[in-house]
Amino acid sequence: RAMSEPAPTHTLDPTPAPAPVAADAPARVRCFSGIQPSGAPHIGNDLGAIRNYVALQDRFESIYCIVDFHALTTTHDPEVLRRRTREMATALLALGLDPGRCTLFVQSHRPEVAELMWLFLTVTPVSWLERTPSYKEKRENQPEDVNHGLLTYPALMAADIVLYKASVVPVGRDQAAHLELSREIVRAFNNRYGPTFPEPQAVYTEAPVVLGTDGVRKMSKSIGNTIEIFAPADEIRRQVMSMVTDTQRIKRTDPGRPEVCNVCQLHRFFGDDYEEIWDGERTARTGCVDTKKLLVERILRHYAPARERYAELMASPATVDGVLEAGAARLRPIVDATMAEVREKMGLR
Ligand code: TYM
Repeated sequence: RAMSEPAPTHTLDPTPAPAPVAADAPARVRCFSGIQPSGAPHIGNDLGAIRNYVALQDRFESIYCIVDFHALTTTHDPEVLRRRTREMATALLALGLDPGRCTLFVQSHRPEVAELMWLFLTVTPVSWLERTPSYKEKRENQPEDVNHGLLTYPALMAADIVLYKASVVPVGRDQAAHLELSREIVRAFNNRYGPTFPEPQAVYTEAPVVLGTDGVRKMSKSIGNTIEIFAPADEIRRQVMSMVTDTQRIKRTDPGRPEVCNVCQLHRFFGDDYEEIWDGERTARTGCVDTKKLLVERILRHYAPARERYAELMASPATVDGVLEAGAARLRPIVDATMAEVREKMGLR
């Protein structure tokens, strides 16, 4: 179920999603998205973005990237970064990215993106970068490490996308401000040097903001309020059973409010009978613990085939590395063409 309007009860941010991409958009339109190898993939990544990566690979020429340059702004251990990069690639393949139908690669394997970022920085006012919400947040969360990469992060995203002249960008709602800034940067470039790049457009799933196990903040690798997709079953059970539900439901006999209960909200995405489950909560026929146990079962059942594929692929790292290498190689002609055009337009040759 790609690209429909977000469920109103499941978002933190009331800004409406941009109009979905027209069904008759030309087949050669490119789609690009990136994911950081900064932690284990969680159901927020899947429901908010990866499901759309998978769905869109048949509709557009799709390119997906594990953004290790971006992860360096927070992950500083080389071995950890290397391991997580391969794990993230494995996860994306296990969840349904098919190297026959899309291109999967690692950001640093096409380092021209760093050159394009620099060129973009020369059309980007510092004030635009300083007002980015994620920058302000990181500055507070990691005051001991306010590195310059945190500030220039969105310019690298803009470069990621338009290096391939992609315009369709499946992401979760937390990336909306970054995407908006990418559009502004591209517009600034096009204004100064002439029409060169399409303006990237965010595309959302039905779950653009998945809340974490705390029921308040978005599910996030860096907060640690996640339900992981490929963790051992016991760990997933522990994560789901720790979820905060409707905080006003104190006694087992109190009626529940599925609209504000994150466990009930997640049931929407793991079965067709969520309305019955919600009814059980409203009438106090079922308790929070029952509903959580059922969610554990559903999540494990839903991801069973992917978990199996993940285990197989993890046992065969050369296969995954081969996919990534072939991906980066396949992109080379596109990158060369874009960079030649940009250097020419900017007076670098
Ligand atoms: P990252 O690695 O934080 O997340 C990967 C994708 O998962 C989505 N997502 C969520 N969606 C809904 N609910 C949640 N709780 C949730 N948590 C994560 C994210 O929105 C994202 O789509 N800056 C990006 C990576 C990036 C990128 C790009 C994306 C780099 N370059 C170019 C698009 C285009 C990031 O940190 O995603």
